[in-house]
Amino acid sequence: MAFPATRLRRLRASRSLRNLVKETVLSVDDLIYPLFVIHGKGKKIPVESMPGVFQFSVDMLKEEIKQIHSLGIPGVLLFGIPEIKDSMASSAHDKNGVIQQAVKKIKEFCPELTVITDVCLCEYTDHGHCGIVDPDKTINNDLSLELLARQAVTHAMAGSDMIAPSDMMDGRVGNIRRALDLEGFAGIPIMSYSAKYCSGFYAPFRDAADSAPAFGSRKTYQMDPANVSEAIRAVRLDIEEGADIVMVKPALAYLDVIKTVKETFGHPTAAFNVSGEYSLIKAAAAMGWIDEKALQAEVLLSIKRAGADIIISYAAKDAAQMLNR
Ligand code: PBG
Ligand code: ZN
Repeated sequence: MAFPATRLRRLRASRSLRNLVKETVLSVDDLIYPLFVIHGKGKKIPVESMPGVFQFSVDMLKEEIKQIHSLGIPGVLLFGIPEIKDSMASSAHDKNGVIQQAVKKIKEFCPELTVITDVCLCEYTDHGHCGIVDPDKTINNDLSLELLARQAVTHAMAGSDMIAPSDMMDGRVGNIRRALDLEGFAGIPIMSYSAKYCSGFYAPFRDAADSAPAFGSRKTYQMDPANVSEAIRAVRLDIEEGADIVMVKPALAYLDVIKTVKETFGHPTAAFNVSGEYSLIKAAAAMGWIDEKALQAEVLLSIKRAGADIIISYAAKDAAQMLNR
């Protein structure tokens, strides 16, 4: 029925009417907050390109975790910056490494919080690549798989509630699944960065994690932003290999991918609202050009509307504050 019988504005007339017909609701329960953990004592170092984000030494996590938990945020995603980086990423599977220590600590004082650990080699390699580099400077997929599985097992041993491989090597989900099962961690879920694009939006993260590749790019393992059919294949393979949750990353420039993945598989789907997406809003807000809170809320809502069940975001704490009000 056309105008004048139909007038869409009738249901926009008041706040309560608008709420009644609201189609998408963002909830604190959907959010995961990323955290950077470093070695040392008493450290809380601001990440310059990400205002409001800090690197924490393990002993400084308690207060931050308490705040996250009291806001009702269900989980954190941990990234570690080790003391020593080498070509074989040895610190990544050190039983007493920075992440392993952090997980133990957090589970001690806040057992209810879901602790998810990022599994990748780039924070631990001196060359900054996500896999082991051969003498001819190519990435050795299958050798990297072994190290990633070892890293995942040490995370689980420390008490990690969920393993999140972000390396983009072929076969890593199945390999990590087998290793976890063998070591008695059949109950620990895997959230795979299944469709992870080679994106300029990661630049501030590489600042925060000190993980920019020393040579070349990540194009031989991360996905071409031009591709969506490939994302479907990547997600399908990860599900076949045992991924409990699949992820699309970044989020904002890839809303179509989130939607397609959710509609195709109906699998629990996460989206990573990455560092650059956060920093763009922060920078524009600092210039006084936009309303930060309104934009942040709109962005997170759009990711949910596209089909994400879970949103990993540096804005999670701010969003939780808004949502709890
Ligand atoms: C490491 C990793 C990256 C991010 C998450 N895990 C960086 C990269 O691949 O370069 C990006 C997160 C962000 O930008 O917020 N593999
Ligand atoms: Zn990596």
